[in-house]
Amino acid sequence: MKAVVQSRYGPPGEVLQVREIEKPTIREDEVLVRVRAASVHADVWHVVTGQPYVLRIMGAGIFSPGRRVPGTDLAGTVEAVGVKVSRVKPGDAVFGESQRGMQWKNGGTFAEYAAAPESALALKPAGVTFEQAAAAATAGYVALTNLRGKAAVRAGQDVLINGAAGGVGAIAVQFASAQGAKVTGVDRTEKLELMRALGADRVIDHTKEDFTAGDERYDLIFDVASTLSLSRCKRVLRPEGVYVFIGHDHYGRAGRRVLGSIPRAFGLMFRAPFDRHIAMAIATPKKQEVMAELAELLATGKLRPVVARTFPLESVGEAIRDLQEGRVPGRIILTP
Ligand SMILES: NC(=O)c1ccc[n+]([C@@H]2O[C@H](COP(=O)([O-])OP(=O)(O)OC[C@H]3O[C@@H](n4cnc5c(N)ncnc54)[C@H](OP(=O)(O)O)[C@@H]3O)[C@@H](O)[C@H]2O)c1
Repeated sequence: MKAVVQSRYGPPGEVLQVREIEKPTIREDEVLVRVRAASVHADVWHVVTGQPYVLRIMGAGIFSPGRRVPGTDLAGTVEAVGVKVSRVKPGDAVFGESQRGMQWKNGGTFAEYAAAPESALALKPAGVTFEQAAAAATAGYVALTNLRGKAAVRAGQDVLINGAAGGVGAIAVQFASAQGAKVTGVDRTEKLELMRALGADRVIDHTKEDFTAGDERYDLIFDVASTLSLSRCKRVLRPEGVYVFIGHDHYGRAGRRVLGSIPRAFGLMFRAPFDRHIAMAIATPKKQEVMAELAELLATGKLRPVVARTFPLESVGEAIRDLQEGRVPGRIILTP
């Protein structure tokens, strides 16, 4: 089969090539999927470049990537199933993740075929394209995992999403709107229209306005761009309002090459028991549960991922460059 192969860590244009390799073999609880679409997102960038360096000792591979084919999510048709698989069968259209755990390692979806655990897949709703379904999987998992428990969105709440036009933010805007919240989206000038189209009730251009200096008050601040200080956010949070930090390194522009956003995430995690304003997703829900929830949101039209551009496997370097530059409004998808 044709696949994108990563030989070492480094610039996407240099370390990725399309080659003919063997189709993956599946374990008894896995599904072989003929991939129709896979998304290009920030964690793919992290693993291809090998930054922050800490990810190399967290499972990605110390000197070079342990698994050679990038990509963590997919949508496609089931080609074959392992003996313990019971929910899907050959011919079914599915979407989801190829990873059992975290996304900071190559998951093999930038290829014509990929193996995925049945537990990380859901049936793709009819009427939703493979591209849209692929755009929802990993970004949707990050969004929905972090909007639970203390950070669960309720009808009537004022919710602010920082970085609302990005991969995770776009899903968070639609999800919060569907829960009946009044959503304020923050991103830059060129993305204001996209945020409105996603369903944001109010939009703020972060290059022109600092909402933490304003008079509006919020029940939830979802900091996907991870550019906000907790103390500034507390100024505009209601007494029981919560702040959620995702951790974004802006494709290396944040400069934290060794540990990335991990120190700040740990700092917030240790403070969380003593600070009512901090919500951290410590125990993550099962992928099967979240994929089912995403499938329902897609099927009911509450979630409509915006696919901006699709690229063939051969243009993977260009696709990652577009992601890194942030110029494309909506998701970037590879179509093997
Ligand atoms: N999407 C996924 O599938 C996925 C999966 C796993 C983990 N994650 C993690 O989640 C985090 C966010 O990912 P993402 O896909 O949402 O990233 P993204 O698509 O790059 O979105 C971030 C958004 O924030 C905007 N932004 C930059 N600076 C800002 C500021 N100062 N104030 C407000 N907005 C600002 C960006 O605009 P510009 O164009 O100006 O930069 C961009 O629209 C990353 O750390 C990533 O590792 C994402």
